[in-house]
Amino acid sequence: MWGGRFDLPPAALMQEINASLPYDRRLYSQDIRGSQAHAAMLAKQGILTAEEEKKIQEGLSLILKEIEDGRFEFRRELEDIHMAVEARLKELIGDVGGKLHTARSRNDQVAVDMKLFVREECEKAIFLLKDLRRVLKKRAAENVETIMPGFTHLQVAQPISFGFYLHAYYEMFGRDIKRFKNAFDVMGECPLGAAALAGTPYNMDRFFTAEKLGFGTPTKNAFDSVSDRDFVLEYLSCASICAMHLSRLAEEMVVFSSQPFGFVKMPQEYTSGSSIMPQKCNPDAAELLRAKTGRIYGSLMTLLTVMKGLPLAYSKDMQEDKECLFDACDTLVLGLKVMTAMIDGLTIRADNMRKALENGFPTATDLADWLVKKAGIPFRQAHHMTGQIVKFAEQNDLRLADVPLTEMQKICPQITQDVYAVLSAEASLNARQSYGGTAPDQLRDRLAETEEL
Ligand code: ARG
Repeated sequence: MWGGRFDLPPAALMQEINASLPYDRRLYSQDIRGSQAHAAMLAKQGILTAEEEKKIQEGLSLILKEIEDGRFEFRRELEDIHMAVEARLKELIGDVGGKLHTARSRNDQVAVDMKLFVREECEKAIFLLKDLRRVLKKRAAENVETIMPGFTHLQVAQPISFGFYLHAYYEMFGRDIKRFKNAFDVMGECPLGAAALAGTPYNMDRFFTAEKLGFGTPTKNAFDSVSDRDFVLEYLSCASICAMHLSRLAEEMVVFSSQPFGFVKMPQEYTSGSSIMPQKCNPDAAELLRAKTGRIYGSLMTLLTVMKGLPLAYSKDMQEDKECLFDACDTLVLGLKVMTAMIDGLTIRADNMRKALENGFPTATDLADWLVKKAGIPFRQAHHMTGQIVKFAEQNDLRLADVPLTEMQKICPQITQDVYAVLSAEASLNARQSYGGTAPDQLRDRLAETEEL
């Protein structure tokens, strides 16, 4: 491409470090789409004749077909997908193919290809997150009254429903959708036409190409356009937060499906056995989901580090944005699909969840609240008295509901028989009627409000 200025071909090692074709070939459809829009704009502006444009468009369509049919030869010496497509275009249609690169540089070309790709990945993530939320909502609705212990510090805290637990993740993944949508909007400016760094002396219509490629407007500064990879970082940030959510849910699936908990049973198709212990059904898929988060964070850290301290505008460093992005995209897509299938196939062990509430005094707060509401005792004092009753129960190996009234009255004389009504897990659950609380009616209402995301 630039043989005019060079005496020597690149060293083999130079090709190895320099060529991005082995991985950026993945951008072929975005690259061809960008070129088609560019050629149309050049013709509309009289920079290409209609005849020239026709030849270029036909050549590009042919190349797209060749690649999709697996008939395209990716030659590493051509460096990247942009040059591979251009070289093939010249082979197919002759010298007129060389006119496509008028008023364009690979710097704006790669920027627009990447933006098109990342926008599609945002849409893909949103689609898969909606699917996951649909399943979480369905399973939550089935388990509005399935009581389990809610934990803080992984210590039994208060009774909640399993539906309430799943709804928490429904909310988290809803925020992820909003983040991806926002990122999609922010990356709504088209860099094509920025050329190398300073714009071009041609009479271009950048608004035309922007619109043709589905962007709202062109970018406003050519220098910034070719050195900007914020949009990749933003995708990776959204993906990292989403992967963190996936890993938390995966972790709980690992814990909840373990024998000491036994709250859920993993769908067997998402577990694997042990080569030595015949009884095992290991939650491998959940464990891998928990671990794969690291790859996505790694991609974010990679690119943040690549971009840090880079002078304006384009530097070859920026070519290192691709492999980490592709890996993160594939990891996220797989993770969302696996999580959706796993939650869909989960068996709920309500009996074990209920049993786990026998320990840990989950209704101690209800007792303190009773003292506040019925006996007019200030909360701090009620908290202290309840602590004393819990201590008595613990020492005598009793549940709170089994502590005799006389013993309670020794600690707080105002306690009466009707305190026992609030000490069951069901009563505790039903009492939490505050907006966003775990009471079945509350959760049903929240689940009924389908927020259009
Ligand atoms: N393969 C390059 C990349 O991915 C394309 C842009 C190259 N531009 C340049 N001036 N060398 O970043």
